[in-house]
Amino acid sequence: VTSFVNRRDEIAQISRLLSGARLVTLTGVAGVGKTRLAMQVAARLGRTFPGGVWLVELAFLRDGDLLAHTLVYTLGIHDTGGDPLASLTEFLRERHLLLVLDNCEHLTQPCATLALALLRAAGQVRILTTSREVLRLAGEHVYQVPPLPTAEQDSPPAATAGHHAVELFAHRASAVVPTFTLTAENHAEVAEVCRRLEGIPLAIELAAVRLRVLSMAQLRTRLDDRFHLLRSGQRSRVPHQRTLRAAVDWSFDLCTPKERAMWGLVSVFAGGFDLAAVEAAVEEVHAAVGTGGSAVVDVLDGLVGKSILTTEQRDGRAWYGMLETLREYGRERLREAGDEPRVRRGHAERYLRLAEQAEREWFGPGQIGWFRRLDREHANLRAALECFHAAPDSEAGQDALRLAAALWFHWVFSGRVAEGRLWLGRALASAAGPTRARARAMVAHAFLAGVDGDLEAVTRLASGARDLAERLGDQLTVAQAITRQAAILNFRGDTAAVQALLTEALARFAALGEPDNPYAVFSLNMLIGVRVQEGDRAGSADIGRQSVAISQARGDTTMLSSTLIHLARAAWLAGELPEAAAHVREAVRLQRSMIAPTSLARGVEQLAWITAARDGPGEQELAALLLGAADRVWRRFGLIKLLHTPYYGPHHRECEAAIRAAIGDEAFEAAFQRGAGMDIEEIVSFVAGESSAPGGAGLAVVAGGNQPAVLSHRERQVAELVAEGLSNKQIAARLVISRRTVDSHVEKILTKLGFTSRVQVAAWFAANSGD
Ligand SMILES: Nc1ncnc2c1ncn2[C@@H]1O[C@H](COP(=O)(O)OP(=O)(O)OP(=O)(O)O)[C@@H](O)[C@H]1O
Ligand SMILES: [Mg+2]
Repeated sequence: VTSFVNRRDEIAQISRLLSGARLVTLTGVAGVGKTRLAMQVAARLGRTFPGGVWLVELAFLRDGDLLAHTLVYTLGIHDTGGDPLASLTEFLRERHLLLVLDNCEHLTQPCATLALALLRAAGQVRILTTSREVLRLAGEHVYQVPPLPTAEQDSPPAATAGHHAVELFAHRASAVVPTFTLTAENHAEVAEVCRRLEGIPLAIELAAVRLRVLSMAQLRTRLDDRFHLLRSGQRSRVPHQRTLRAAVDWSFDLCTPKERAMWGLVSVFAGGFDLAAVEAAVEEVHAAVGTGGSAVVDVLDGLVGKSILTTEQRDGRAWYGMLETLREYGRERLREAGDEPRVRRGHAERYLRLAEQAEREWFGPGQIGWFRRLDREHANLRAALECFHAAPDSEAGQDALRLAAALWFHWVFSGRVAEGRLWLGRALASAAGPTRARARAMVAHAFLAGVDGDLEAVTRLASGARDLAERLGDQLTVAQAITRQAAILNFRGDTAAVQALLTEALARFAALGEPDNPYAVFSLNMLIGVRVQEGDRAGSADIGRQSVAISQARGDTTMLSSTLIHLARAAWLAGELPEAAAHVREAVRLQRSMIAPTSLARGVEQLAWITAARDGPGEQELAALLLGAADRVWRRFGLIKLLHTPYYGPHHRECEAAIRAAIGDEAFEAAFQRGAGMDIEEIVSFVAGESSAPGGAGLAVVAGGNQPAVLSHRERQVAELVAEGLSNKQIAARLVISRRTVDSHVEKILTKLGFTSRVQVAAWFAANSGD
């Protein structure tokens, strides 16, 4: 956001170091510019790493146990459970990239352990860390970041020109006073100020903004007085640290009482915050800054003006951040005032409320918005979980259960299953008493364990949750727990038992007035396959329609994608191959804005089976390629365990054997490898029918081959009415056109979208009506 001053030599030296060494640590005192410098090095080296440069922010991560999870998430590897370090090394093994771990000082031990493991396992990975303390690893190259050079005392004006500390001061000063320039008159004062501040960029920034209210001469005199005072009577701090501390103290003292209170208040946020989050802290804000409409924004603005807070735009709104040094300072002040526990707890409780609201609303029209929001707030959610976990009282234990459980869909859909299991496990282990919160957390944990392929845990948790919820009379949780018991049996292939459980669960949801509970939709989806296996194709299709209708009525796309995968399986089992393929394609298309790993893996796998069941030139090769692509997806998201369950295993093996028999092992392997070599984005667009597979002329035809749909205005109108469930005759009446014209529009829509049924048009419309 702000201009960067020189550091050319440092950048060159660090780049050179990184060309030889695999681990470089930029160290130095707080505020000296380690992070800024690392960013510059990263920007400069970006192109030399084919795998890119990845920045992992660690300043607000408190818990070393979550380090690997944080990397997994930052790198965009969905974590679906299991061992995050294993997914990480698997992902990095063949990549040539630079990882920047920023602000490691409070986690040097876990960072050292992780860095060592990654460097060993992934030969082409390089790591650049910034840390006030070094990691102490053999092979670590330490680079001490120096402060910005300042001019010697009494040096002539010309000599100050090249001094970067002076330059930084001038930059920041002209940002607050646009007319500010370095002149023959003021240069000596500026140089003196920078010398006093020992060239520490953060200290210089904090001082420069004072020019808003002080003249240069006043600034210098006050700083002199201040530092004189401080130098006498100082405790034993390292000189630079002492200087920075003095500069921050000074800034703090110059804040208004409201700004000081706000500084403390917002220092409990982790990873930034938005205005709404501060405004939600009504009581604390009132205590701190008083009431009044614009008060909060004004105080925040004041802190931005003093360089205490930074702002940027995220998803179209202001997002505030704070440099770690200043945040720590705020925390310290809060602690001294005895307010820290209360303010932290208030923060945690507000995030609990947010999570519970999200749980009620995510299955609805605001879905993508909720997913994004929780993603933005992830560090704050974690801070809340940490706060509840660390608090000794029993209420906090219950709140930890509630929060970890309310976030179940976030853990799963944002790809943080292992982290979710960790928090749920912790909360279940430490909270006392047979409470509803416990029963619900067990259901959530069962759900996550299922994604993780940990079927024993699902069995244990689901029946534990059911017993407890029955004892407590918590009927909704009983119904949800039953769906988890059904899920286990479904994986094991026990259709009759699954059918009985699901029927019971659905009856309970209906009786509770919650037929559109997400768990009810999961039940319907499972039932789609069960019915087909029992030979009831019509019943299966009917259940499918019900499920699609619920998602549509809710305005959801994520669940719809999953429903379509189940419909595809049912169609495939019934031998309706074109319909099965079309369902998969649509399910994957719905994932363009957000990937749901399990649905994607299942979809690609099923498309392979569907393709292998067709005869035609090139189909078997394509099926082998798709098996390879599916293998890639299963592994990439750590889901491969699922493929060995009776639900998928036998079909998978049959499919592979049939292809091998048809085209021979050699051709199979070649095609399989081509598929396994595709990356996830390629697989998505290939299966969605938007691109062709690598090296395969004609192969695209089979997976769809149609272009992204562009409907005319009229066709869109018709599609909307189809989505509403109107017949062609009704549509004709509504639009006052002939029935024949409607027929031909519908036909064109189906062709353009590559669909075979009206249900798909409806699903497509629900997913695309927002844009
Ligand atoms: N070369 C530079 N040009 C302009 N601004 C700089 C420069 N170096 C540092 N700064 C500014 O100084 C402040 C502190 O820098 P930075 O956050 O990089 O310090 P740090 O050493 O990483 O501190 P910490 O130890 O607290 O993480 C930031 O506002 C940054 O933008
Ligand atoms: Mg830093």
